[in-house]
Amino acid sequence: MGWNSWNCFGHEVSAEKVKRAADALVKSGLVDHGWSYINIDDSWQFNRDQKDSAFAGNMRDKDGFIITNSKFPDMKGLADYVHDSGLKIGIYSSPGPWTCGGCAGSYGYERQDAEKYAEWGIDYLKYDWCSYGGVINRPTTSDPKTVPSLSFQGGGDLQKGVYPFQLMGDYLKKQSRDIVYNLCQYGMGDVWKWGNQVHAQSWRTTNDITDSWASVRDIALAQDKAASYAKPGNWNDPDMLVVGIVGWGNSHPTRLKPDEQYLHISLWSIFSAPMLIGCDLEKLDSFTLNLLTNDEVIAINQDALGRQGTCQQTIGDLRIYTKDLEDGSKAVAFANFGLERLNLSYSDFNKLGIYGKQIIRDLWRQKDIAQIQTNADELQLEIPAHGVLFYKLSRTQ
Ligand code: GLA
Repeated sequence: MGWNSWNCFGHEVSAEKVKRAADALVKSGLVDHGWSYINIDDSWQFNRDQKDSAFAGNMRDKDGFIITNSKFPDMKGLADYVHDSGLKIGIYSSPGPWTCGGCAGSYGYERQDAEKYAEWGIDYLKYDWCSYGGVINRPTTSDPKTVPSLSFQGGGDLQKGVYPFQLMGDYLKKQSRDIVYNLCQYGMGDVWKWGNQVHAQSWRTTNDITDSWASVRDIALAQDKAASYAKPGNWNDPDMLVVGIVGWGNSHPTRLKPDEQYLHISLWSIFSAPMLIGCDLEKLDSFTLNLLTNDEVIAINQDALGRQGTCQQTIGDLRIYTKDLEDGSKAVAFANFGLERLNLSYSDFNKLGIYGKQIIRDLWRQKDIAQIQTNADELQLEIPAHGVLFYKLSRTQ
């Protein structure tokens, strides 16, 4: 759980903004609910566009260690600042010569990068794919400098597509500090089947999220295929959150409606997704803060059993997701993907693997709303369009 700069600042990120995000994470109280990572995404390195006036012709020093751009004059100092705030710090790179945004990637310098991250005190690496497609046939015949940043091909090739992640995973393991390793190759080659073998702890399953209903819907609907591979230390990553002020450098309030935001956070919790806030933490409104600080919802996301919930039943546009919890209860999300409000009497509890006398707790409202006998009673459900009811069902005597 933490924050990442991308959905908010895009390429406009800077050390100052990262520090202010760390301050805001603490000041807003988010830190007291478990949010603890401050992750820098793309654009802390020099860009191939060479627009940075501090660029003196080299992106790396003579020993191959990366040089940070003028917006990040002191990465070690920044990491110390974040650590002194009681938080952890993450960074971003790509196995190709270029990141997606055209900054220096790790290709050919994986050892130096892993060593540098450890020296700075980095706790988390997000490792992308962009431009690796252009050098996938190492040794490559093309000059890595001329490879386009957005070259994606080849990631499904199980040998060649896994290799760069193994390489960096092995170097990270050799460092004297633990660095959480997140793969960002959009699910190619069924990454959930092999991510664990390259020492990763989480991996993106799908393409980049944006703050639209279609994006959240399509990503949500694509998660179940990987669910059985989730377990403690191995998490499927449906991408970062799009609530609050987002914009990738052009800030605006999320275009998701309030009910869509409830559905987004509820399902990401059911999915046991790595939760990375993507908004401007200095501009949190009370609705967004409430979405992100409901401890009963967070507890579903963080449940120690580490299962990923899946859709157990579909009724028209209604999809009913359940997640087994460590205490034997289940989280249940009644997610309405349709355009109409739904009213129904629900009694199919056996289809969800729920039996006997149950207490139903509304997690968003944090209160018990009913006690039912699953083979006799019906539950009245009213679910807004693109909205959700998020419950916990626990057996009682
Ligand atoms: C890719 C990733 C994003 C972000 C950008 C940075 O698109 O999927 O999350 O890291 O690269 O350029």
